Amino acid sequence: MTEPAVSAEGLSKKYGDFQALQDVNLSVPAGTVLGLLGPNGAGKTTTVRILATLLTPDAGQATVAGQDVLRKPAEVRKRIGLTGQYAAVDARLTGRENIELIGVLLHLGRKAAKVRAAELLEQFELTDAADKLAKNYSGGMRRRLDLAASLVSRPPVLFLDEPTTGLDLTSRMTLWRMVKEQVDSGVTVLLTTQYLEEADQLANRVAVIDKGRLIAEGTPDELKRRVGGDRLEVSVTDTSDLAVVTTALASLSAEQPTVDQDSRTASIALSGGIKAIASISAELEAAGVEPLDFAVRRSSMDDVFLALTGHSSAASDDGDPQQQDLNANEKEAQSV
Ligand SMILES: Nc1ncnc2c1ncn2[C@@H]1O[C@H](COP(=O)(O)OP(=O)(O)OP(=O)(O)O)[C@@H](O)[C@H]1O
Ligand SMILES: [Mg+2]
Repeated sequence: MTEPAVSAEGLSKKYGDFQALQDVNLSVPAGTVLGLLGPNGAGKTTTVRILATLLTPDAGQATVAGQDVLRKPAEVRKRIGLTGQYAAVDARLTGRENIELIGVLLHLGRKAAKVRAAELLEQFELTDAADKLAKNYSGGMRRRLDLAASLVSRPPVLFLDEPTTGLDLTSRMTLWRMVKEQVDSGVTVLLTTQYLEEADQLANRVAVIDKGRLIAEGTPDELKRRVGGDRLEVSVTDTSDLAVVTTALASLSAEQPTVDQDSRTASIALSGGIKAIASISAELEAAGVEPLDFAVRRSSMDDVFLALTGHSSAASDDGDPQQQDLNANEKEAQSV
């Protein structure tokens, strides 16, 4: 097995008496994306700053791109790109000047810096706006410029601290596409996010962090399965049909189906996939029961987050509180 591109063991950090990070272990295989998911104050930025050599941990060790973070910080810095939580572009310069400046600071030489800037502006769809001052950019354009600026030296490892927080969905999707392009070209990405959808979209594996501790790690699918996986839900018009449905569903699992009399819905964990769905459907038809609704409900990352942390993600779903309530209720119904 090749060495992971990012690996951390036992990272801990206190600010004064406050334990911001406690014994965090992480491993990101080369060419993959790890999503570090957690609510405000979880310790995401602290983790990124340690890995990016901007902050010294009280305990633990880490390597990034094969270099020891504590012993070889300069070597690490040569191999990483970092976009911080708050866009670091200079608003008084144009987009092009921002990127060229970084090229010059990296000793590319003026000519090469210009070429690289033009290339990145094109790649991040900023060519038309290249000669406008960055202060006149939209939030999404700034984030793209920031991301482009972090890639001037073609770093093999990229840290993105909440790359899309505060952006609307369209800008967020554009950024996701651009991050995916980087990953496709072989870059390893560690990104922090409060958006479950973002972790789901971008991350091969997700590490959930809360109050400075890692509380779960796995692929998005593994984490969803761990909190209940997919469920088959069948609702009927007539309460008297509910018994037939419940009996049919019971044949799928050792577990008893969950029945909600009010909504005349019965549900069960779905482990048998599509075959199980077909057999239930046939059974109901044979019994003359026509379901009002017949649906597979997938666990969402919201369910995962709620189950693991006991609270829903503050920033999921563009801050639509109704949707969050809905997810919370669904989770409750599911765990009865
Ligand atoms: N320099 C500091 N001095 C004191 N406390 C700090 C400092 N930096 C961070 N903290 C605290 O440490 C905890 C973790 O902070 P961190 O910035 O890593 O969280 P985060 O997960 O990035 O949160 P957010 O989603 O809000 O960015 C928070 O409670 C924060 O208030
Ligand atoms: Mg942060």
